[in-house]
Amino acid sequence: MANRLRDALSRPLKDLRLSVTDRCNFRCRYCMPPEMFDEGFEFLPKQQVLTFEEMERIVRLFVQASGIEKVRITGGEPLMRSQLSHLIQLISKVDGIRDIAMTTNGSLLTKHAQNLKEAGLDRVTVSLDCLDDEHFRYINGRNISVQHVLDGINAAEEAGLEVKVNMVVKRGMNDEDILPMARYFKGTNIILRFIEYMDVGNANGWKLDHVVGKRELYDIINKEMPIEPVDPNYRGEVADRFRYKDGSGEIGIISSVTDSFCQDCSRARVSPEGKLITCLFASEGHDLRDVLRSGASDEEVIEHIASIWEKRDDRYSEERFQQTDQDKIKKIEMSHIGG
Ligand code: GTP
Ligand code: 5AD
Ligand code: SF4
Ligand code: SF4
Repeated sequence: MANRLRDALSRPLKDLRLSVTDRCNFRCRYCMPPEMFDEGFEFLPKQQVLTFEEMERIVRLFVQASGIEKVRITGGEPLMRSQLSHLIQLISKVDGIRDIAMTTNGSLLTKHAQNLKEAGLDRVTVSLDCLDDEHFRYINGRNISVQHVLDGINAAEEAGLEVKVNMVVKRGMNDEDILPMARYFKGTNIILRFIEYMDVGNANGWKLDHVVGKRELYDIINKEMPIEPVDPNYRGEVADRFRYKDGSGEIGIISSVTDSFCQDCSRARVSPEGKLITCLFASEGHDLRDVLRSGASDEEVIEHIASIWEKRDDRYSEERFQQTDQDKIKKIEMSHIGG
């Protein structure tokens, strides 16, 4: 295996997240507010978006550069890209890749789960913020029913994919849904993770008051369904794990705001147009696409990746509260690079 690249804070590059499109068929109000992402919004033109072959090359070169074993496909909604299973197939054939996961809103899984599994996908993480149908139709901005997503989750399980569910908790939006969601997934094979609402991008009007912190989430659940901590599965896991004391499964809490995890952050992100992004809260990325398209050799691309990673010193979540002009910092939207 290649020696791992290390950044300026000694953090290895272990894990690659590829955003395959900036488009989504949902308009979740905290991510792509419909007023902003309307008919007039300019998504990336096709020629600017990486081809599947370019993405496969990127994965292969990240393996060579730093021995990555894990790739997450994200978006936008990755299933908005047609023939996505072809990309999965290409990546699954890259020597060294052991784990391919996808973050999705679940709405297109009924149609695609089986193909994705056959192409080599191991896991899906489905975003679902509540179980109340009327409320969910409002949150997703596109009147999609909860049942539609639950059907997608079932299809994924039936296809043999491992499934997790991510729930972003925003006070005033869905904090009342915490317990119903926990009750629903308790006793299933699905791990539900609660995500503290983060100040990603500039579109969502984030305020600290919107955050329901890890401690509060823990208390709400523990009071009704007692839980206890479990050791992480691997170093740098973003979710703190808790298991139900009665043995009926586990949940996770992802606390980027109240208890950040930058010290172990080994995730590189690549945007749909081929920018290497070294932090979820970065203002911009570093070009890879033009380097690839200029005819650079594998060695030259690897050197380029290494030179970016070795300078990396991002630790936004640890510094968040030292930033004075919070509102003025330009940040990439979550819908562009996924989680
Ligand atoms: P596993 O491989 O299943 O452990 O997945 P994961 O938990 O690493 O990935 P997932 O994409 O499900 O992460 C869940 C959420 O955690 C994301 O949607 C983000 O909201 C948040 N998150 C993931 N990585 C980071 C990160 O590097 N920084 C911050 N601030 N939040 C992150
Ligand atoms: N804070 C936390 N999580 C978010 N997501 C989108 N926006 C935010 C935010 N501001 C989640 C989505 C999905 C994943 C890609 O990130 O709901 O689960
Ligand atoms: Fe919602 Fe995910 Fe689409 Fe954002 S990218 S609008 S969170 S489904
Ligand atoms: Fe990594 Fe940036 Fe998230 Fe910190 S804030 S964990 S450096 S992506």
